[in-house]
Amino acid sequence: MISNTTASYGRVARFFHWSIALLVLSDIALGLIGKFTPRSGDTVAFLQLLYSTHKTIGVTILALAVLRVGWAISQPRPVPLHPERRLETFAADTAHWVLYAAIFVLPLSGWVIHSAEVGFAPIWWPFPQSLPFIPKSERLAGAAANVHWIAGIVLATMVAAHIGGAINHALIDRDGTLARMWNGRAAGKAATHPGKTASVLAAIGIWTFAIGGALTVFGPAHNVEAASQFPAKQTEGWVVQDGSLSITIKQMGAEVTGGFANWQAEIEYDEVTRTGAVKTVIDTTSLTLGSVTDQAKGPEFFDVAAHDTAVFQGNIVQIGGPKHQASGSLTLVGQSVSVTLDFDLEVTGRTAKASGGTVLDRRDFGMGMAYPDESSVGFAVEVRIELVATKPE
Ligand code: HEM
Ligand code: HEM
Repeated sequence: MISNTTASYGRVARFFHWSIALLVLSDIALGLIGKFTPRSGDTVAFLQLLYSTHKTIGVTILALAVLRVGWAISQPRPVPLHPERRLETFAADTAHWVLYAAIFVLPLSGWVIHSAEVGFAPIWWPFPQSLPFIPKSERLAGAAANVHWIAGIVLATMVAAHIGGAINHALIDRDGTLARMWNGRAAGKAATHPGKTASVLAAIGIWTFAIGGALTVFGPAHNVEAASQFPAKQTEGWVVQDGSLSITIKQMGAEVTGGFANWQAEIEYDEVTRTGAVKTVIDTTSLTLGSVTDQAKGPEFFDVAAHDTAVFQGNIVQIGGPKHQASGSLTLVGQSVSVTLDFDLEVTGRTAKASGGTVLDRRDFGMGMAYPDESSVGFAVEVRIELVATKPE
């Protein structure tokens, strides 16, 4: 039978139950394997595959959950087999409501993490990559990750109790509870169904406590490192007031942009000859690059444990109008490579604005040699620099 009766689960309800059960158990396992896999250059490709699988299964669960609820609303609910055991019935019902909510809370919080963080493992076709109205924000991603983690604990605890209950019915009570979910056999007297208000309220209470706790007590330590650490550096003529040094890479075909929070530039520039010199010292440990920050700083790429600074030193010449070039050498992970930076320079009074960039090839610095093609990490690293400097009186 396709539909439920008050004593049995129909095919559709059973299909939803078992398909979602299988996918949920797999996704808990994948999530935990991901959490406990160390982040390094050796594991990044594995983790990408793992999280893409995890996310795609998770979004599939969400789609099935929507259909399941739509179906369940139109169906009678099979009555409990032992309505006289009021506490047991209440506990089982509460677990069912908590589980119903879990198949929404987990995928949605996961999807918020994915939409709010930059880069990393994509969700596969046919699902969209982002939720509308979710901005890219590390803080939001952190809060959603806390909800996801605590909700995962609630889900795993409820699933364990739920499976325990089912085994208990099958082995100790030897009643038809498991059989009616497994093969649709009818069981139970179609008499009464205890009210659902108490169990629904209990489930709402559990979720309020869990999500509230995840956002407050276990809330993310608000990460305000930020560009305010940018040091103003006194030089011969120019003091850098503000600026950003960002890089963009392509990871699995998608652009990921990040930057260095800490760097210093010493700039000399003669407005008559339109020539000058620049020395930039970059603190590579201050790099953030979305969710691949740890991998980028790891031994395969920037190797910040061994090389915590990168230095660019070059001479500035005017090409024409605002267009300038700084040609020199960039020393990164111990390798020095000739680099030309194209930038526009506008000097108005005592303020100079420079904006430009260059494209590097990671292979020139021996970075990511374990990724000989561009399928996971592109060769090109786009560098952008924006700065405002003033000349003291
Ligand atoms: C019912 C569905 C899901 C379940 C049971 C589930 C479960 C888990 C578990 C147990 C973890 C490891 C613990 C943790 O780090 O929080 C995890 C991590 C993660 N999940 Fe899910 N998940 C589900 C759906 C999704 C979806 C739909 C997405 C994204 C579209 C997603 C994205 C993530 C991400 C990004 C992490 C890593 C979080 C971090 O590093 O803090 N999950 N998930
Ligand atoms: C191997 C694991 C599982 C077993 C053996 C199992 C067993 C059962 C049984 C026997 C019932 C019928 C209870 C009754 O008629 O009173 C049931 C119902 C239910 N189960 Fe599971 N279950 C499992 C996993 C899960 C998971 C992972 C979820 C979470 C998403 C889940 C959610 C539900 C819900 C919401 C119901 C209420 C009936 C409905 O509306 O579909 N189960 N389960």
